[in-house]
Formats: sequence, structure tokens, C-alpha cells
Amino acid sequence: MTKSIIKKEFQINNDSIIIDIQNIKKDFKDVKAVDGVSLKVKKGELFSILGPNGAGKTTLVRMLTTVLTPTSGNAYIKGHSIKSEKREIVKLIGVCPQDIVIYDILRAEENVEFVAHMHGISNKEAKEKAKILLEKFGIAGRKTWSKNFSGGMKRRLNLAMALVFDPEILFLDEPTAGLDPQARRLVWDYIRELKNKNITIILMTHDMVEADSLSDRVAIIDHGKIIAQGTPTELKEKYGSDNVLEISFKEQIDLNLVKNSLKEIPFIANSKEINRKGKNTLLISFQGGLKKFIHILQSGFINNIDDVENMKFRQNSLEDVFLNLTGRRLRD
Ligand SMILES: Nc1ncnc2c1ncn2[C@@H]1O[C@H](COP(=O)(O)OP(=O)(O)OP(=O)(O)O)[C@@H](O)[C@H]1O
Ligand SMILES: [Mg+2]
Repeated sequence: MTKSIIKKEFQINNDSIIIDIQNIKKDFKDVKAVDGVSLKVKKGELFSILGPNGAGKTTLVRMLTTVLTPTSGNAYIKGHSIKSEKREIVKLIGVCPQDIVIYDILRAEENVEFVAHMHGISNKEAKEKAKILLEKFGIAGRKTWSKNFSGGMKRRLNLAMALVFDPEILFLDEPTAGLDPQARRLVWDYIRELKNKNITIILMTHDMVEADSLSDRVAIIDHGKIIAQGTPTELKEKYGSDNVLEISFKEQIDLNLVKNSLKEIPFIANSKEINRKGKNTLLISFQGGLKKFIHILQSGFINNIDDVENMKFRQNSLEDVFLNLTGRRLRD
């Protein structure tokens, strides 16, 4: 009775929330692997959980995908409790685990077809889907046993297996670990395609470029706790270092005049002259992302574009955010 009331409230109040994690914890003896995480993920969102090795990402994903039982707290996937409604949840989710799980003595397409059959997909459709996915990931036409695949090929196969039944919600745990740059781009492109199909994706990663370029929102996890969350731009604006616009003018321009006009812009921390290779250069430091950069450009501090010799914009990254929040680098 109580359960049905809770579910009803959930639907009424949080229509667009598809994953609701409520103060979830997992201890392994004295290790607090996940230490009170609460998050809400909206339908169709790509939500990344970014954190260093050992932060608790895989433990969290294993609880959300019903492999591990929480020590305390709970989470609801489309209103279903991960503790008591595992069957309903398994039908909704695709999982690409960090540790590759494939059947060594099956070929690539047989592995994908096998998963499709488990989800009740017909033989014909399974074959078609396997072919499309393996082509997407650049591993179609390989006739060897999967155990003879390279590590990167195995990871791509694992992704194809997670995707074959068009899950509504997809959990990807370090999907590009060990992939070469080209394969990584293939996977990123495919993840973007999935996003356009309105699939909700939870991405666990320690790769800040991956999190930055793919995510609608990011939560940063450290020692089992969420220490910040927001869109990549919000995080960089709130916790990042200054962005820098480096602009070199032709000799005849008076930099003091330029600096005076920049004083009008409140979010500029400072503007410094530097004499680099005899050039008339100004370093403008400011808090904020691309929007602020455009605001500066539109402020009219450049009278004539022909006065500008060169211009560079250095944007801060999620690495800066992590460093500023924890005093450590993501890869320490
Ligand atoms: N089954 C287990 N038994 C004991 N300790 C565990 C177990 N699984 C995870 N841990 C511990 O929990 C902590 C979090 O591990 P987890 O694998 O969740 O981190 P992660 O963020 O996924 O790291 P990585 O980036 O290396 O994959 C670590 O200290 C780890 O040693
Ligand atoms: Mg992990």
C-alpha cells in the first residue's frame, strides 16, 4: 500500500525524472565505496558521473543496474525500486560494464544475436541489428572467435551487445577505456546518435574531455560522494579557473586605451600587457565560458579588426574544476 502511494507521488511530481537516486550507500567492510549519493536524471538526458579511479562509479552503476544491493538508501528507475523491482528494471536498461563480458567461443555477431534473443527479438531482426551495430563499430565481418579479438575490439563488441535491444535507459561504464582515438570517436558519434533518439544515458567516466563533449549534465564524484553537479559550462563557470583571451595588436595601438575600455566589463578579472616576441599583446582573464567571451568581443574594445594581428582563446576544462574542488588532478 505504502509503495503504491510513493510511486504515484513520484509520477505526479517528477514527470520528467527517470532515475531518482536517494541517499544511496554501499560499504565493503570499512570502505565506503558509495557514501550517500542523491541524484535525479531527466528522461533523454546524457548524465555523466566523472571521477578518478576508486571514486565509486562502478559500485554506483552496479547498484543502479541491480547487480549489487545497497547498504542503505534506494534508487528508482522509472519509478521502480532497484531493491524490490529488479525484473521490471532489467527490461528497461542496457548495460555496458567496465569489465568486458562476452562469450569467448562465439563470434561477434553470435554474441550480439544471443543478447537479442534473450530480449525476445526474432531471429531475423536480431541478425539485421547485429550487422548494423557491428558495422557502426567497425568490427563487422570478423569470423574469428571473440576471444581472439583485441581489447579495443572486445570493448566495441560489448557496446554493440548493450545496445541491440534498443534500451530506454543505457548505462555505460568507461565505454571508451582502452580504445584508440579513432575508435573513441566512433563510439562518441554513436553515443550522440543515441542521444538524438531520446535514450537516457548514464555515462561513468574519468575522461574529462568525454564528459565535457557529450554530457547534458555532469556530477563529479570523489571518495563516494558527489561534490558538484551541473552542466559542463555551469561547472566551469562556478569552479573553473579563469579563461584567457590573448590578443595581439599592431604596433601603433595604445594598449592603455584598450585596457581602459575593458574596465567597463564587470566579469573581467584583469588585463595584462605582455611583450611576447616584440608583439603588442594583451592577456584578458575572465570568469565564464563562451558566452562571456562573445560578450567581450562584442563590447567594442576593438575599434578596427585590421588592428588585430592574432587572437587566441584558452578555455578552462573540467580538469580545472576537479583540481579546484579537491586540490588533486583527476589522474593522480
Ligand atoms: N567487491 C568489492 N569488494 C571490496 N571493495 C570493493 C569492491 N568493489 C569496489 N570496492 C572498492 O570500492 C571503491 C570504489 O570502487 P569502484 O570500482 O566503484 O570505483 P570506480 O570509480 O569505478 O574506479 P575506476 O575508475 O578505477 O573504475 C574502491 O576503493 C574499491 O576498491
Ligand atoms: Mg569503475
